[in-house]
Amino acid sequence: MRFAQRLDAVPPYLFAELERKIAEKRAAGVDVISLGIGDPDLPTPEPVVEALAAGARDPATHQYPTNHGSDEFRQAAADFYEARFGVELDPGSEVVPALGGKEAVGHMALALLDPGDTCLSPDPGYPPYTSGPVFAGADVHYLPLRPEHGFLPDLDSIPDDVLRRANLLFLDYPNNPTGAVVQDGYFERAVELARANDLVVVHDNAYSELCYDGYLAPSFLETPGAKDVGVEIFSLSKGWNMTGWRAGLVSGNAEVVDRYRHLKTNLDSGMFEAVQRATVAALTDARDFPREMSAVYQRRRDLLAEALSAIGLDVQPPKATPYFWVPVPDGYTSASFSELVLEEAAVVVSPGPSFGPSGEGFVRLSMTVPDDRLDEAARRIETSLRSGIITA
Ligand SMILES: Cc1ncc(COP(=O)(O)O)c(C=O)c1O
Repeated sequence: MRFAQRLDAVPPYLFAELERKIAEKRAAGVDVISLGIGDPDLPTPEPVVEALAAGARDPATHQYPTNHGSDEFRQAAADFYEARFGVELDPGSEVVPALGGKEAVGHMALALLDPGDTCLSPDPGYPPYTSGPVFAGADVHYLPLRPEHGFLPDLDSIPDDVLRRANLLFLDYPNNPTGAVVQDGYFERAVELARANDLVVVHDNAYSELCYDGYLAPSFLETPGAKDVGVEIFSLSKGWNMTGWRAGLVSGNAEVVDRYRHLKTNLDSGMFEAVQRATVAALTDARDFPREMSAVYQRRRDLLAEALSAIGLDVQPPKATPYFWVPVPDGYTSASFSELVLEEAAVVVSPGPSFGPSGEGFVRLSMTVPDDRLDEAARRIETSLRSGIITA
């Protein structure tokens, strides 16, 4: 057999590797605590589950859905954006369902990039910001996220020749993996840059609903002119504990929405109508559910911040997202620290370089496990650090 080479150009998907290691240890009877994957541990809200169950029993949902999505889905999305962000969307032309944010990221790259084009992707970043462009045959130009710059790409230092070739910029705030939030004026600068260089901005908004200390993350589409240059991907996965449901949407610039939908009509047949109804329930009947989840994560964040500081790790508690982005202690690399805590503490963390080269020196910890397990994980990390058997 001969296989397409494009798959060889990307490393094995980070979480597929982690899942394999976890499964191996668990099969050997080890009590593994995984802080590696941002997959909420708590259930989807009841009105959403009920809407799915009722929808599944209604034969009207059993045929092919359309890639446009139902009128109810697009109206509910527009109403949510208006109520939550003060953003007006035309449900007819500016909203389309996505089978989760990940699908939208990958397909957006295919819809917008030709071979030889350049995509501007944050580093460290969500892995599909690399694999999507690579599958499209495009080059990826990494924009480093540095602590001294608030983990925001320095948009003013992108070389002119790169900007000339680039036609897509991925951004995501609140940010995975760093947990950083956007600073005032930043999205405005991104719109300016996009206008001046004919770039499409795709803002991947997977985490705006998980915010702490009274902070409420904005939508990129709140920025004046944003709809002229880009779209936003919104996901129900994290705020409503719906990672398994594959529910999201793309909204904003009507031409980009149309190109993305055009691509999808050739590749998938849209979102199961019952899942669309469940998504409507989330965005209407369970609209405030993410505030409850934010309270849960805020408590876990405080607990983990205290425990990690107590063992000497330099932690910046995040204002949003379920992630801590932690510099590894002196004497360790991201890999050697991750290996230490996996082998000695049976705790899984994500090594920073899995998100891109600028992730070296960091690990990501996800708070998607119950409080007592977080506590236990911190305790075990402390013990393993004291034993310090594996060093760089
Ligand atoms: C930045 C970012 N975008 C998108 C996603 C994908 O979410 P979904 O479950 O909607 O595909 C994730 C998931 O971790 C993410 O971190």
